[in-house]
Amino acid sequence: MTTATEARNNIIARQQQTLGHSNEELTSLVEKDRVHRDVYLDPEIFDLEMERIWGQAWVFVGHDSQVKKPGDFITTTIGKEPVVMVRDKKGEVNVVYNRCGHKGAKVVGKPCGNAQMFRCPYHGWTFQLDGTLNATPHKCGYEDTAFDPADPQFSMQKVARVENYRGFVFANLSEQGDDFETFMGAALETIDNMADRSPQGEVEVVGACLPYFHDCNWKMFFENLNDAQHPMVCHGSVGVATKKTVRELPEGTPVPKEVEIISPFGSSYELFDDMGVTVMENGHSFMGGKHSIHSSYSEIPGYMEAMIESHGQEKTERVLGSNRHNTAIYPSFTIKDAVQIIRVVRPVSVDKTLIQTWHFRLKGAPEQMLHRTITYSRLINSPASMVGPDDWDCYARMQESLRSNSAEWVDMRRYIGREESADGLTRAKGTSDLSMRNQYKAWTNYMTQTSEQEA
Ligand SMILES: [Fe+2]
Repeated sequence: MTTATEARNNIIARQQQTLGHSNEELTSLVEKDRVHRDVYLDPEIFDLEMERIWGQAWVFVGHDSQVKKPGDFITTTIGKEPVVMVRDKKGEVNVVYNRCGHKGAKVVGKPCGNAQMFRCPYHGWTFQLDGTLNATPHKCGYEDTAFDPADPQFSMQKVARVENYRGFVFANLSEQGDDFETFMGAALETIDNMADRSPQGEVEVVGACLPYFHDCNWKMFFENLNDAQHPMVCHGSVGVATKKTVRELPEGTPVPKEVEIISPFGSSYELFDDMGVTVMENGHSFMGGKHSIHSSYSEIPGYMEAMIESHGQEKTERVLGSNRHNTAIYPSFTIKDAVQIIRVVRPVSVDKTLIQTWHFRLKGAPEQMLHRTITYSRLINSPASMVGPDDWDCYARMQESLRSNSAEWVDMRRYIGREESADGLTRAKGTSDLSMRNQYKAWTNYMTQTSEQEA
């Protein structure tokens, strides 16, 4: 019997023999304060990343509120692997490879839906909601062939590990490596914080995702998440325009809610330095903590009362007193707990990346909280917004001009050597390049791991 994990290990072992990047060559691409441009440009390195990073890290798949009823499913990818997340008849959420166990066709074509079971459109093999083979048509031809329907090679195979943490479903294609909670470390507190901002302690996805294709390598988006040197330059025009709009409002006109969302993107270097950046194992990081660019939003009537009634004064103050900005969970996921938004990274090719933005309702909170969440995305994350396209343009410029033979290296030295460590976390001023250096430490670890397939 060949399991999906065994098959993947065989493929990776063959790649390591044939692809032209030894561990020494990969290590030489990352120095303590700079990285070589090939990490963004080389398609072969991209393929290795899909196997060695995305094939070994815990990657976000979806939220279980997207599959509320038995038979509900979504399709997506983990690296290059097509997968289906589906709730089965027992209520369990499964993640299975979207590959027919017969001839290998993609079984489920829709992005989401509900099914009693899955049926391959090619030869009609059917699969139960946990991926196991249900039936094959015209069985007579398999008599005396040693065909065993229970052999997992004929199923839509399960991925190696799945974890559902407060509704957030992550999967790991490898049986080896850290368990989920160890992998997440202090980043897990951000997921807790978003869920605890609900008076019921639960969140749910609302609506479809906001897709945004980026003409860049996936790592450029990820590095930008905690890059606090760019807002006042890259988004400077937005800050200026917002201030001008406020100045020109007729006297006595209330300041629009949109202003308190946009204005912080034009804040000073000092404000971002003061927010600070914190990094941890496995490439994760976040900005802020006590305060962030989200902490000065005006109160929404009824929310505080609902929180105190459910959680009590002390817990409410603790939950709402935590203000992280962009917790980045390497390599696939970033969460804004204070505004109930996640963005998910789906690499497409070495120079193309799909970013999916999802919005959450805090169960039991006034609906105005959700309106603010949607407004935030309309202003910041949407391809038609005032902020996201600024970033998009800079990523595309990097992807284009890193091809220039005038130089080979990308610098990441800002505030190097001026970090402070305590309690397993390392902190620095907000405009430090610390989070990027930390991501490349994880990148090197993943990319040069001599994993079980070589043993
Ligand atoms: Fe930005």
